[in-house]
Amino acid sequence: MTTLLRGRLLSFKRAPQGLDDTDSYTYESDGGLLIENGIIAAIGPYATIKAQAPGDVTEVDHRPHLILPGLIDMHLHFPQMQVIASYAANLLEWLNTYTFPEECRFVESAHAERIATHFYNELIRHGTTTAVAYCSVHKTSADAFFSEAMRRNMRMVGGKVMMDRHAPQGLLDTPETGYDETREVIADWHGKGRNHVAITPRFAITSTPAQMEATAALAREFPDLHIQTHLSENHDEIKFTGELYPEAIDYTDIYARYGLLGPKSLFGHAIHLSEREADAMSEAGAVAVHCPTSNLFLGSGLFPLKALARREKPVRIGVATDIGGGSSYSMLRTMDEAYKIQQLLGERLNPLESYYYMTRGNAEALSLVDKIGTLDTGTEADLIILNAAATPAMTLKMEVVKSLAEELFLLQTMGDDRAIAETYVAGKPMKSILQ
Ligand code: GUN
Ligand code: ZN
Repeated sequence: MTTLLRGRLLSFKRAPQGLDDTDSYTYESDGGLLIENGIIAAIGPYATIKAQAPGDVTEVDHRPHLILPGLIDMHLHFPQMQVIASYAANLLEWLNTYTFPEECRFVESAHAERIATHFYNELIRHGTTTAVAYCSVHKTSADAFFSEAMRRNMRMVGGKVMMDRHAPQGLLDTPETGYDETREVIADWHGKGRNHVAITPRFAITSTPAQMEATAALAREFPDLHIQTHLSENHDEIKFTGELYPEAIDYTDIYARYGLLGPKSLFGHAIHLSEREADAMSEAGAVAVHCPTSNLFLGSGLFPLKALARREKPVRIGVATDIGGGSSYSMLRTMDEAYKIQQLLGERLNPLESYYYMTRGNAEALSLVDKIGTLDTGTEADLIILNAAATPAMTLKMEVVKSLAEELFLLQTMGDDRAIAETYVAGKPMKSILQ
C-alpha cells in the first residue's frame, strides 16, 4: 500500500533559536511525502518524489494546506472527559469535588469502553496522534484505553494510576494490588500494537510511602518504561506534600528518593520548582510537562518555560492539554495559552518553537523521536493537514499573512479542531471517517 501526499511540508530538525532560524526546520513549498505500509518512505520536492513513486501509487493533493507530523499531547487524563468545565477554586477542591467521584465510574468496563471511543475520536479530531495518558486506578480503564488504541493503531502511552490514600474508597488500590495490577497491565499491553505502558503513581499525596516503595520496585524491574506523576502544581498541594514526607528536602526529592527521577520520568506541571529542584531535574534528564490551559483554569500558576529551557542546567520540557483540568483537547489552543503565559512573564515564545514543542520536542521528551514527531524517512506516518483558512475570520486574516511564521502563528492563535483538515495515523486518514 503506497500513498503520495502533496502539500506544504514542515518538519523540525532541532529546537529553533529564533524566528529567523531557518536551519532548524525543513520546509517544502510544493512537497511530496511517500508512505509505504504506514512508514514515511521518501520526502522532498513533489516532482522528485513523484518520479520515484510506483506507477499505481494513490495520490492525495492537500495543497494549499500544510502537512506536519501528528501532534503529541504529553499529559492528559482519559477518565476526565466529563470533568472538563468543573467550577472549582483550586486543584485540591477540584480533585475532591469532581475528579475523584467521576473516576470511580471507571470500575465499570462498559463505561470505560464508551469513554475510550470518545477519547480517541477527540484526539483524532484535534490532530493528536500520540498522547500520554493517565487511566483510573482500575485495570478495566487501562484495558479499555489500550484496546481502543490498538484498534486504531495509534502510538499511545498510558498507565493504570496507583493511589492508596486521600481519595474515596472506590478509587484506592494498595501497595500490593497497585504493584500486581501494574505488572498485569504491562504484561497485557506493553509492546502490543503501538502501546507503551507507563508506571503511574498519581502524586505523592495519594501514595503512602509503602506504595512509593512498590513503584520504586517497578521502576527497577522495568527501567525502559516511562514514569508519570504530578509535581509542584499548586501551593496548598506542595505544603501538604511536604507534611506527608517530612524527611524529603523538597517535593522533587520525594520522587528522587524512590528512584523515580530519571530520563523517562514525566512530571506534570512542575510550576513552582526551586533552583535546587530544577538542577536535580536537569541532572536526571527528567521532563517537566507544561499544561497551560489547566494551569490557568485551576489558577495554579505561570510555568517559567523559557527560564527553565535557557538555564545553565536546562530542564527538558514537554507540552500537554491535561484534560480535564485543561480546557481544550487542541494542542493549537494549548500553545496559544502557553504563549500568553510567557507574555505575562515578560518572555517571548515564538511560533516556530510552539510547533517544535507540539511535534519533535514532545517526541524527544518521550525518547521516541526515532518513531514519531518528524517527517523523517523511516519514521511512522502520523501526520496532520493544517488549514489556516478554516473559518471566515481566519480566511480574512490570511489575506494579509506574508510568511510561514505568520501563518503558523495565526493557526495557533485562532485555530482549533476546525483547522485540522485531516489526521493520518500510520498512513491512514482517520479524521474524515469519524462519525
Ligand atoms: N494532581 C493529582 N491528580 C491530578 C489530576 O488529575 N489533575 C491535575 N491537574 N493535577 C493532579
Ligand atoms: Zn494531570
